[in-house]
Amino acid sequence: MSGTKEEDRKSSSEWRDFFWNPRTHELLGRTATSWGLILLFYLVFYLFLAGMFALTMYILLLTLDDYKPTWQDQLATPGMMIRPKGDQLEIVYSVSDAQSWDGFVQNLNSFLSPYNDIYQVQTNDNCPPDQYFIQEDSGEVRNNPKRSCQFNRTMLEECSGLSDHFYGYSRGQPCILIKMNRVIGMLPGKDGQSPYVTCGAKRYKVDKDEWREDSDKIGPLAYYPPNGTFNLMYYPYYGKKAQVNYTQPLVAVRFLNASLNTDINIECKINSNTLSTGSDRDKFAGRVAFKLRINEK
Ligand SMILES: *[C@@H]1O[C@H](CO)[C@@H](O)[C@H](O)[C@H]1NC(C)=O
Ligand SMILES: *[C@@H]1O[C@H](CO)[C@@H](O)[C@H](O)[C@H]1NC(C)=O
Ligand SMILES: *[C@@H]1O[C@H](CO)[C@@H](O)[C@H](O)[C@H]1NC(C)=O
Ligand SMILES: *[C@@H]1O[C@H](CO)[C@@H](O)[C@H](O)[C@H]1NC(C)=O
Repeated sequence: MSGTKEEDRKSSSEWRDFFWNPRTHELLGRTATSWGLILLFYLVFYLFLAGMFALTMYILLLTLDDYKPTWQDQLATPGMMIRPKGDQLEIVYSVSDAQSWDGFVQNLNSFLSPYNDIYQVQTNDNCPPDQYFIQEDSGEVRNNPKRSCQFNRTMLEECSGLSDHFYGYSRGQPCILIKMNRVIGMLPGKDGQSPYVTCGAKRYKVDKDEWREDSDKIGPLAYYPPNGTFNLMYYPYYGKKAQVNYTQPLVAVRFLNASLNTDINIECKINSNTLSTGSDRDKFAGRVAFKLRINEK
């Protein structure tokens, strides 16, 4: 009995000695010098690691070009997008309910404000159409900043929001804007042929083996600028930093007599003699699909 107590006392005093031994001046079994050396070792070790990291980063950044992406997908046909932008690719509203389309109108108004003619004339050039606006660098000498071509809001005519402030939404003839994602250096057409957009019914699956399309519901379409072209003069694009005032060309599609109170599945695609659409590799290349539904009330 007394023996175990003795042992307890002994082990507890051993513990205390291990934590702080007054005789040898050891903390947790090491002297101050030993601890100091360990701390010094780790300090030097981590400083070395941090230095290596900084050096690698610095060398990597030196090899990057501010004006061109180092890696860019070479083959890809760019994706396309529509405006007004919603949560999904859906334009659903009621003609008689102004609240249901007011958001679309606001969205288009703000999207198109940099396209105002006054602003375009101040910032951009009036370029000769149907040809590329080439501004290459001569060797190491950078030809920067590069100019960009005017895309006037009035070129969207009925879809500019200027003659009809509601872009046709209040009359059941909505305008949808289409843009093609920017790709640096892309040449979207040859032999002076600008690429153009066409929209039609999208084939969609209703059942396992049943496909359908809404071609009878779309009605006639109008395209602005004429023929729905992205003029060659807006290409090639040299990047945000080199071409600061670049204005992305747009195509507006207006639905002149789409069927009311029904879902219409639409697909718009680019037609070009250099870009191919919808390969297996990327079925969104050069096309965009969305749903349109115009309710009467
Ligand atoms: C854009 O509008 C301005 C002013 O109306 C005009 O002078 C200019 O020629 C237009 N540019 C293009 C490319 O149509
Ligand atoms: C960009 O636009 C501003 C005016 O908004 C103009 O002063 C400047 O020269 C333009 N830069 C280029 C490279 O076109
Ligand atoms: C539109 O296309 C037609 C037929 O391809 C062509 O004759 C006409 O010149 C084009 N219009 C414009 C403005 O490019
Ligand atoms: C619009 O389409 C409907 C059928 O959906 C047709 O009856 C009507 O005549 C068309 N209106 C115009 C102006 O083309």
